[in-house]
Amino acid sequence: MKIGVLGAGTMGSGIAQVAAQNGHETILVDVNQEMLNKAESALDKILNRLVEKEKISEDDKINIQGRISYTTDLTDFKGCGLVIEAIVEKIEVKHDVFKKLESAVGENCILASNTSSLSIASIGSALKKSDRIIGIHFFNPAPLMPLVEIIPSVQTSQETLETAKNLIDSWGKTTVVCKDTPGFIVNRGARPFYGEALRIYEEGIADFATIDWAMTEIGGFKMGPFTLMDYIGNDVNYAVTESVFAAFYYDPRFKPSFTQKRHSEAGFLGRKSGRGYYSYAEGASMPEPNKDMKLGQMIFDRILAMLINEAYDAVHMQVASAEDVDKAMTKGVNYPKGLLAWAKEIGEKEILNRLEILFEEYGEDRYRPCVLLKRMAK
Ligand SMILES: NC(=O)c1ccc[n+]([C@@H]2O[C@H](COP(=O)([O-])OP(=O)(O)OC[C@H]3O[C@@H](n4cnc5c(N)ncnc54)[C@H](O)[C@@H]3O)[C@@H](O)[C@H]2O)c1
Repeated sequence: MKIGVLGAGTMGSGIAQVAAQNGHETILVDVNQEMLNKAESALDKILNRLVEKEKISEDDKINIQGRISYTTDLTDFKGCGLVIEAIVEKIEVKHDVFKKLESAVGENCILASNTSSLSIASIGSALKKSDRIIGIHFFNPAPLMPLVEIIPSVQTSQETLETAKNLIDSWGKTTVVCKDTPGFIVNRGARPFYGEALRIYEEGIADFATIDWAMTEIGGFKMGPFTLMDYIGNDVNYAVTESVFAAFYYDPRFKPSFTQKRHSEAGFLGRKSGRGYYSYAEGASMPEPNKDMKLGQMIFDRILAMLINEAYDAVHMQVASAEDVDKAMTKGVNYPKGLLAWAKEIGEKEILNRLEILFEEYGEDRYRPCVLLKRMAK
């Protein structure tokens, strides 16, 4: 099958690489010739490195390179069985582009979006034959991250879903199917990791380093929330939180934090700006955490309970199966355990108890336990 990728930025160039590595003739289109040149030379570098590491042969490299064409002409998508769009995250632009895409491809071509935050139904509304729309959400970097969220919308046909899922499975990716809801699985399920950590900080319970220490040393997470937010970029992470919060009709579970907003406004974006919650200046030393085990355990227990509550809610609201929610969080954001499996290990009663104490004390809707968790605990 010939594959089209629209947008040669961070995501599009990675997705084109994955398609070409899996034997597909791949057409990469961008409005900007410079981005296409950049994508081509970046891929050359990556492939040369893979040859050096003996992961692929020189012949493989030449074949992969030969399978990708770089063009600014959308009509080159003619004959594609699937086109994946990865351009700017703006709904008006996506509407316009999907109309153009539809006139460039044949009747049976599936049209997919890699959007992180927009509704697939809305993107599909630009199409005449909207049963061919689907979300195919890769994670960054696409060639390395195993997870891909597959998002059928209300318009998507069963055939579109099956063809898209089987194809991405055949690329060796781990796919999870989820409903067209804000943040899909991963970007929704991970919100409490940041949000509750920020809340604990704002209440003065602990500083950044202590919260990070609790989550890594006691919780077994690869990175603490503040280190991770600095890595992602506070501007980017804040924007995702704000968009998920608005899309959930301002449910207090997703409420953004002033601390992150102020860091973002101040230009303390994280690693990329040299300073975020921590300083990345040359010679800067990391602050020491307060290694009080009781405090650390309390912090970890609280954040984990909030994460688990969100995972149960996603399952309860049919966003995805329990199995797929666990797969998504372990393969998409490297959580040490699936959140539902973790709840079963600790005991759903215990998790419910932690949430009930928080809900009782704060009286905020943010801490309301999910009804599915209540039922399971019973
Ligand atoms: N960056 C991430 O971590 C990430 C992860 C998952 C999903 N996404 C989603 O993927 C999409 C792309 O994100 P990105 O980070 O790769 O963006 P990017 O800014 O790196 O690249 C976007 C590319 O699209 C091109 N472009 C813009 N308008 C175009 C048009 N009308 N026609 C053709 N090309 C056009 C730009 O020239 C640019 O090369 C977004 O929808 C984003 O939400 C991003």
